[in-house]
Amino acid sequence: PSRVLLRGRILDFKAEPQDDRDTDAFTYHEDGAILIKDGLIEAAGPYASVLSQAHDVPVIDHRPHLLMAGFVDTHIHFPQVQVIASWGAQLLDWLNTYTFPEETRFADPVHAAAMASGFYDLLIGHGTTSAVAFCSVHAASVDAFFTEAAQRNMRMIGGKVMMDRNAPDGLRDTPQSSYDDSKTLIDKWHGKGRAHYAITPRFAITSTPDQLDMAGALVAEHPDCYIQTHLSENADEIAFTAQLYPDAPDYLGVYEAHGLLTPRTLLGHSIHLTPREIDVLSDTGAKPVFCPTSNLFLGSGLFDDAGLRGRGICNAIATDVGAGTSYSMLQTLNEGYKVLQLQGQKLHPMRAFHWITRGNAVALGLEDRIGTLAPGTEADIVVLDARATPAAALRMARADTLSEELFVLQMLGDDRAVAEVYLAGQTAKNGSVAARALVGV
Ligand code: GUN
Ligand code: FE
Repeated sequence: PSRVLLRGRILDFKAEPQDDRDTDAFTYHEDGAILIKDGLIEAAGPYASVLSQAHDVPVIDHRPHLLMAGFVDTHIHFPQVQVIASWGAQLLDWLNTYTFPEETRFADPVHAAAMASGFYDLLIGHGTTSAVAFCSVHAASVDAFFTEAAQRNMRMIGGKVMMDRNAPDGLRDTPQSSYDDSKTLIDKWHGKGRAHYAITPRFAITSTPDQLDMAGALVAEHPDCYIQTHLSENADEIAFTAQLYPDAPDYLGVYEAHGLLTPRTLLGHSIHLTPREIDVLSDTGAKPVFCPTSNLFLGSGLFDDAGLRGRGICNAIATDVGAGTSYSMLQTLNEGYKVLQLQGQKLHPMRAFHWITRGNAVALGLEDRIGTLAPGTEADIVVLDARATPAAALRMARADTLSEELFVLQMLGDDRAVAEVYLAGQTAKNGSVAARALVGV
């Protein structure tokens, strides 16, 4: 059917709440409904009032589960699906030992297509409906990434990693070939269906100044593409960058000098920043991306969320799989909570769930399309069951408020808490809308 009505408990964000007293920032309906038409949200609100606009529309009853906008992951590596959980190393050793050898395999389109299928199953299974991804250096990996996204009808952002030094054979391009390949991929994919291209110099260490010039040229020629890279994750990485770019004032200065900093720039990690770098973030609108499970796993350091936010800098949050240890944005919030605790900072569940939905959409400038249940936006929706595991169910028996439920999901939830996922109005985790509507579930 072109129209369908989802019934359940509904949470939606209009702004960033600091806690549950910020009732202007969110709406919650205990008996709510979302009306979907042709893949878009037509209405969301109390069940009775939405139903009155929707005669003879099939109803899928998700009570007592909680429905909200699908999760947005703003930094993940598609070619690292078989790197996750690799033992014992910090960033540079981890890249050289595990990650680079694995990424060479994505030159093979058959391998890339097989991995893309698994990658999207994992995203959807964990409730992630949009993501921003690094592909490998090979155009074939980008084709596999966007081909599968189109099949799943997902709004996805990605790009070919540009890297022309400090990487093994089979994983290096050249300034010219990286420019040419990126350009071809932009023409092929950017703006096709729900796809967006991200110009993707991997990080300063793996690009010569000539290559970063080429990346800057791409940015100037394609101002509506995203830009993604890594910044100040690890002490050895920062020292090596300073050696490679002796004239730069600091790490961020490398990207700044090559025209790579715009409000559409996403900077993974951004942990060890100088006051000048924080000024540049604030001036350019480039967005730091907090990757808590990765930062703990690689022993990289603690992201200063409050410090950056205090400067008015808009932060995103992400898994960073395969250095990240979970595809789950819920588990990402769990570890994010702990990283902030270690610094005396707080992450209220209301702000946390805003962050992984509307907050990340705002960081991408996509809040008119994804991240909320506002009418006219795309019907990417997650259905959450806070009682999905014995520990969570036992804790939920003593939970009285929505915030407590959200915090149980934040600390104990993972893919088991994701009962269903809708992509542009179609069920994506458990069979088709039509089949479910027929049996009334
Ligand atoms: N810096 C450069 N490449 C990578 C990567 O693949 N993962 C992480 N965590 N940091 C990086
Ligand atoms: Fe990364």
